[in-house]
Amino acid sequence: MHKKTINGFSKLSKSEKANWAARHFFNDPEQVIRDWAGFYHPDEATQKILDGLSENTVSNYHLPYGIAPNFVINGKAYAVPMVIEESSVVAAASSAAKYWMERGGFFAEVLDTKKLGQVHFTWAGDARKLYAVFEALRAQLLEEATPLTANMEKRGGGIRDIRIIDMSHLETGYYQLLVAFETCDSMGANFINSVLESFADTLQRFVATHPNFSGSEKTLSIIMAILSNYTPECLVRAWVECPIEAMGNCEGIDPVIFAEKFHKAVRIAHLDPYRAATHNKGIFNGIDAVVLATGNDFRAIEACGHTYAARDGHYRSLSDCSLDNGAFRFWLDIPLAVGTVGGLTKLHPLARRSLELLGNPGAPELMCVIAAAGLAQNFAALRSLITTGIQKGHMKMHLMNILNHLGAENDACAKAVDYFSDKAVSFTAVREFLEKA
Ligand code: MEV
Repeated sequence: MHKKTINGFSKLSKSEKANWAARHFFNDPEQVIRDWAGFYHPDEATQKILDGLSENTVSNYHLPYGIAPNFVINGKAYAVPMVIEESSVVAAASSAAKYWMERGGFFAEVLDTKKLGQVHFTWAGDARKLYAVFEALRAQLLEEATPLTANMEKRGGGIRDIRIIDMSHLETGYYQLLVAFETCDSMGANFINSVLESFADTLQRFVATHPNFSGSEKTLSIIMAILSNYTPECLVRAWVECPIEAMGNCEGIDPVIFAEKFHKAVRIAHLDPYRAATHNKGIFNGIDAVVLATGNDFRAIEACGHTYAARDGHYRSLSDCSLDNGAFRFWLDIPLAVGTVGGLTKLHPLARRSLELLGNPGAPELMCVIAAAGLAQNFAALRSLITTGIQKGHMKMHLMNILNHLGAENDACAKAVDYFSDKAVSFTAVREFLEKA
């Protein structure tokens, strides 16, 4: 065994794990152990919750938690919690929120809340024979999953649709059960996966015992049962609109020219995947930050959003813009499978507070807020890109980060901000400035 590997790491206590990792991978193990311990939560009960969320924990990894105020969405004011490490994102969201607050605010509408899961299986029989017994199969699947679905049904959710999809033209003998779910205010991953595993079991027994099947038809091989993170019908639309002349002077640019340039920028992201990836990344700056702050699964949201962006076979912008009859309209359609109950949402102390800050919304309302944050972020990014460029705003924050890193005092910081207001910011330039000051 290599000397930097270990058996039974998970069985060690937290401090034994920290000790082992520190001694094997650092030159200053005592200091690194102190650094890790320095990020423990002072309240033991809270630290226990955080440790319980994952495995092999030796510390907590902090990210900034900010608030973007002045989001008016469907006429209601929100202060939006955002967890993100990138400078300028919260400032940009706040600025776009205020800009649109003065022009009627954001609008958002949930178009559907359907979630999906699949049982992937192979079977050597004739597909028509499976379809012929589908009603009986469906009834047995639902019947045997009742203990799992009863609670969700009481809340108004449950299984909405079950289909057999024949994929054997792509892969010999390959079929799916495609199942649609309504999971109400929960993201529903555990519910969906439990039902799918029950379906897999029922399906296998069904073909083994049904009189229509004989010989090799009685054997069906389950490959896997798992939710799909692609939920194109768990969809929300957010939009802003105003007369073009009401857009004001954007960074000194006439509103008509601004609107046309903006429209062109969105069009480019529609046409060119290289630009679309960056454009959509800007949208996810806003979306992920709220998803994280509310204890939702940002990997699921990203995977789904990018798949949706490629739904016509070409990766495109998730947002769109029109300039018809003198009106500027900018909108975002995005699938967002999020929850406001279950998972981390109530367990993580700050996720719970984020939901409180938003007025304890249900999942559909949270979808509206998250989509509005994504649209705001996209608006702010494009507004900078087509006017001043993004470096101006970024560099201001970057300068502060460099000054903090170099341990500059308040007085020196103020002088540096003034000095670099019209000069390029770089680590070396700031260090030289501080050395001379
Ligand atoms: C940076 O994090 C995000 C942007 O690149 C987005 C965009 O280009 O639209 C500014």
